[in-house]
Amino acid sequence: MNPSRAVYLAIACLFMTSSAAWGQEAPETAGPLVGHTTDSSAVIWMYAPQGSPLEIDWAAEADAKGKGQGKGKLNFEPVANPAGDLTGVPYKVTLTDLQPLTTYQYQVKVDGQTDPAYGGSFRTAPAADQGSQFRLAVTSCMKFGEPQASWNLLLAEKPDLHVTLGDTQYSDTTNPTIQWKHHLRYRAVPEFSAVLKSTPNYAMWDDHDYGPNNSDGTAKGKENSLVGWNQFWGNPTAGTATTPGAFFKFSWGDVDFFMLDGRYHRSPDNAPDDDQKRMLGDAQFEWLIEGLKNSRAKFKVIASGSTLSDSKNDGWRIYTFARHRLFDAIGEENIGGVIYLSGDIHRSLVWTHPESDRVGYPLIEVVSSGVANSKTLSFATVDFDTTADDPTVQVRIIHGDGKTHADKTWKLSDLTPDQ
Ligand SMILES: [Fe+2]
Repeated sequence: MNPSRAVYLAIACLFMTSSAAWGQEAPETAGPLVGHTTDSSAVIWMYAPQGSPLEIDWAAEADAKGKGQGKGKLNFEPVANPAGDLTGVPYKVTLTDLQPLTTYQYQVKVDGQTDPAYGGSFRTAPAADQGSQFRLAVTSCMKFGEPQASWNLLLAEKPDLHVTLGDTQYSDTTNPTIQWKHHLRYRAVPEFSAVLKSTPNYAMWDDHDYGPNNSDGTAKGKENSLVGWNQFWGNPTAGTATTPGAFFKFSWGDVDFFMLDGRYHRSPDNAPDDDQKRMLGDAQFEWLIEGLKNSRAKFKVIASGSTLSDSKNDGWRIYTFARHRLFDAIGEENIGGVIYLSGDIHRSLVWTHPESDRVGYPLIEVVSSGVANSKTLSFATVDFDTTADDPTVQVRIIHGDGKTHADKTWKLSDLTPDQ
């Protein structure tokens, strides 16, 4: 048996084991999903059988009343070849010439067939750099196979956008075929699917959707994980021209979001906690600090799966040099309005880091974890109002029982260093 055949069979056996455990095959279609959305464009993603012509119609909601604009039709382009024995591929398209703060309805047709399940809606972002009021929903840690009412609670909050911070599937491998199948199974959950197709979504991986549990930059096959990740989400970019990784920046009105990849360049958790231990790698760290320094946004959100303190064996808590370097850089560069979002720990909370003196003002961390995979089934909402003279940010933690377990508001002046 030639080596490539042996590898193929080994992978096939591995897949069959996983598939048998699931009790059914991966679905032939998934999505649609709304990805990166600006004041004039939106990415729509869908998974469908390879070779199917996919088309999309979209229209501003006002069009239905005969007085709007922005109706059109496009063919999707497949972005990848099928993985393993899967027959489908992800497709993406970018809708353009949209208007700010406008709700659009869209309908995907697969092979000429119109199915209401392939339709959705989204609202575009505020005009760039404009003051605005908007609601962000933050989640992490998915599951499949059970009713997931927390997604319904999240939708009822009518978020303008959704940021998810990892464990979006638990394949625990860098094998892209197995990753794809897990993504497909999770996205078949109706409640999760409803969020994906009706809210702009931005995603960052954590350990389980990057590689094995608590995995780091030494994970074999991480390049494959990165390809698969980009195929299954609609993020604007990934990494830079010289530094690979899933990290990226986007803006919503005059709030900037820095989505950090805490896996691809991470030193092992069990490495000595000294000045050689890295969470982001030096290039991503420099990218972050340069981005923060150049940002004119009122609030600057740093988001990562890794908590600043709450995980005793897999977060910034055991990366003392890297954590202090981040805090000190924010302080030394006089960067105001920074808020940190994270996930991972299967419960949610909002707190102020005790080392905030390094930053120069209270460093708020919002941990949102376990929307589908925890006892609390919790998520966070973050409401920004940058129209006020002193802009505000309000954080709420909502549990699956519908109760609000935290509700705190800060003014930008509270989160600005003294001059
Ligand atoms: Fe998790």
